[in-house]
Amino acid sequence: MHLKLPLSLKGMTTLDRDQFKQTISVPYVNIPVECIQSSKWKNYLLCLPSLKNVRDLQPILKTHKQVLFDPDIIENKEDIIKKIPSITKYVEESFDFTPLAITYENYSIEQVIKAILPDDLGKDRPINTGSGYSLIGHIAHFNLKDAVLPYKHIIAQVVLDKLTHVKTVVNKLHEIDSVYRNFELEIIAGEPNTIVKCRESKAIFQFDFAKVYWNPRLSTERERIVNVLHHNDLVFDVFAGVGPFVVPASMLGCTVYANDINPESVKWMTINLKTNRTKKSSNEYHVFNLDGREFLRTIVFPRIESYQKNIANDNEKRWCLSDNKIIILMNLPDIALTFLDVLPEWLSENIEEKQQWILPIHIHCYTFSKADNPDEDIRLRLKTILPNINDNQISCRFVRQVAPKKDMMCVNIILFDKKKKETRNECDEEKEEKNPTKRFKQDSSE
Ligand SMILES: C[S@@+](CC[C@H](N)C(=O)[O-])C[C@H]1O[C@@H](n2cnc3c(N)ncnc32)[C@H](O)[C@@H]1O
Repeated sequence: MHLKLPLSLKGMTTLDRDQFKQTISVPYVNIPVECIQSSKWKNYLLCLPSLKNVRDLQPILKTHKQVLFDPDIIENKEDIIKKIPSITKYVEESFDFTPLAITYENYSIEQVIKAILPDDLGKDRPINTGSGYSLIGHIAHFNLKDAVLPYKHIIAQVVLDKLTHVKTVVNKLHEIDSVYRNFELEIIAGEPNTIVKCRESKAIFQFDFAKVYWNPRLSTERERIVNVLHHNDLVFDVFAGVGPFVVPASMLGCTVYANDINPESVKWMTINLKTNRTKKSSNEYHVFNLDGREFLRTIVFPRIESYQKNIANDNEKRWCLSDNKIIILMNLPDIALTFLDVLPEWLSENIEEKQQWILPIHIHCYTFSKADNPDEDIRLRLKTILPNINDNQISCRFVRQVAPKKDMMCVNIILFDKKKKETRNECDEEKEEKNPTKRFKQDSSE
């Protein structure tokens, strides 16, 4: 329901809960208990926080309940008969309006914030004022725009009042521009404790939100990646943060090599890997605190080489792992693509040997694009970094819009995909014979 709030609330900077009191006139029908089907009528019921829309009659009549409908939708008897014909009989018998006292408790956080902010801001969408928030464990996290800052304390108090599990409210002070991708925070209300515990992908993560990167808005994307992982896959995460990819990967039984340049992230990632071990997590995990390029050169590439050799030389392993893959994750969208410049040199070494590799390598590298055609933009940028990679080895996927005209994208690059090659060889042999350059390009890129 669209509750009209008193105009006197506009510009309030100290919370006066009494000023939210008002009495509204609400349509109701008394309905026998056995005929109440609130789930079927839910679109017409009066829905407000902390309000029962099906309640006892006064004085109590055990056979019936009073059902409250939304006065914005149900203005008169005819409305309700038209919308819920099955209760016509009871509407005829008892439809009426009752005065209902509404208090601060019956408003949502968004309604209170909208009512408090001056008109020019209150009409704006939360995303434009920053008055929308994210929840990370016991922390509610705002990114308030300057014009809203005079209201930060009252906004924080409303959140503490209404979300009982929230104990701390913080505001982001600057855009993320540090190497560690964390941001400076101001605690605007509640306990001065930024060490949080939160759940994602069936794992529990602990970290100091003030010192590491964590973005709950990426949870769907991370789960999407975790869903394509299998037991015994080999997973490398170049920019692993506190482990939102590698912890669930390890829980699934993948062997994990995780890296981050921020020692604080590495500390929490190690804790998270340890505390989330399951029966399936029989495989090893290794944690590094290196620059991404160094990690790729000194850890990822040598481990892939020895792993592939090992499988090639062991018939049993070759058979067991033939459906597995190697995954390299690179979530540092501002600059991750540039780290791929270490690939061409590595790919060009011992090319014949690499062409025999059994396991395909899937690189998932995140990037931003402001172009009208992000796919084209990313492929153009990749061409300069990986000139020998074929178009059909690359696919781009939209992840989320991070700002107007700025998309986060995931680039998937597949190397050494024997299965695809075999299918291709069978199906496209004829075409390739006619076009040998294409074949050379594919092979030389690997
Ligand atoms: C956008 S965060 C992603 C973290 C994690 N993968 C996630 O999804 O939450 C990027 C991470 O890269 C790390 N980082 C930044 N520059 C780096 C570099 N040159 N080498 C390795 N890690 C780096 C940051 O410390 C940060 O934890």
